[in-house]
Amino acid sequence: DEVDMDIDMLSKGGFPHFMLKEIFDQPKVLRDCMRGRLFAKTSDEEKRSGRNNDVNDNDVVLSAVKNNKDRLMSAKRFIIVACGTSWHAGLIGKQLIERYCQIPVEVDYASEFRYRDPIIYPTDVVIAISQSGETADTLAAIELAKSKGACVFGIVNAVGSSIARQTDTGIYIHVGPEIGVASTKAFTGQLTCLTLLALCLGHCKGTISKDEYDEMIQELAVIPDKMEQVLKLNDAIKTISRTYTYATNFLYLGRGWNYPVALEGALKLKEISYIHAEGYPAAEMKHGPIALVDDRMPVLFVATHHKQYQKIVSNMEEVKARGGHIIAIITEGDTEIPKIANECIEVPQTLAPLAPLLTVIPLQLLAYHVAVCKGLNVDQPRNLAKSVTVE
Ligand code: G6P
Repeated sequence: DEVDMDIDMLSKGGFPHFMLKEIFDQPKVLRDCMRGRLFAKTSDEEKRSGRNNDVNDNDVVLSAVKNNKDRLMSAKRFIIVACGTSWHAGLIGKQLIERYCQIPVEVDYASEFRYRDPIIYPTDVVIAISQSGETADTLAAIELAKSKGACVFGIVNAVGSSIARQTDTGIYIHVGPEIGVASTKAFTGQLTCLTLLALCLGHCKGTISKDEYDEMIQELAVIPDKMEQVLKLNDAIKTISRTYTYATNFLYLGRGWNYPVALEGALKLKEISYIHAEGYPAAEMKHGPIALVDDRMPVLFVATHHKQYQKIVSNMEEVKARGGHIIAIITEGDTEIPKIANECIEVPQTLAPLAPLLTVIPLQLLAYHVAVCKGLNVDQPRNLAKSVTVE
């Protein structure tokens, strides 16, 4: 038994659960995900050592884009299909592709798409996002898209999986096997792949300025370091989580790039802590959820210092006026929100489109620690499966 215990701890890299290991894996696996794809201008020292000899400094290289350039560049529309956490990544992917490639993007739940008799043109590109590569609804959505002549591009983690084989082309997430049922590193890996895709395609199309392209590449390259900084907040988040162990409801609010992060944070809490949580775009709060706010309703705001910051501060004041308990994910150095919120979690400054890569981590950790406090089975929550291969 003792030997079994040791093997168990070993496979979890010394962590008590796969989920915590996978959360802490994120900086390393994102470097793996970007290796050979992202070439950021480095110091002269590194250049001399022969790195990146055959590629330009500050470039994104994706063979899937290079080999399917005409098809991707002539696409009139992208449609992203996925389920669960992968669908949340898709919502951010839409913003990335629309912004950098100037192509309209729709995002659909694979289960809805497949039965809606959707309008699909041969000039469409359908992006299927999946960690496992085995999700039944996503596979069916791909089949439908192919039958209508669309090009199907996969963003998949499991190498050789059904979705990887069914798609016309694509990129692997390359974050290693994910064991915890609640997805963590696959999500940030999917965001990284979507960012690389949007930058690469936007660069080919000429829809992104050279300055913005360079700036995004430079910043993406340092995201793993910034993630390491966020992970140092683990103990502080563990302490915060004790206050919320007995909460029965939670509201997660965010805007813009952080709106899908609010959805993902709420999903994590539901999945492993069994606390009812709703994610909402912050401005929609006044159209319903605010009626729920009282002194027993914790509200988590993802409120980094970007566009619409002042608007989210007003939302926060409205919650405070009604006695709601506020946890805020903020940018380092923010002095305004700490005057309003009960708890603040600071993440390093970054470019707005990359903020989700940092802001999601405290939410993963919060859900994890609440579940541990409640004595729940973090890696295998009740009623859930890692991959849903039936309808
Ligand atoms: C299940 C998992 C989720 C995952 C979803 C989609 O519900 O528990 O973590 O996000 O399936 O899975 P996929 O493998 O297609 O990303």
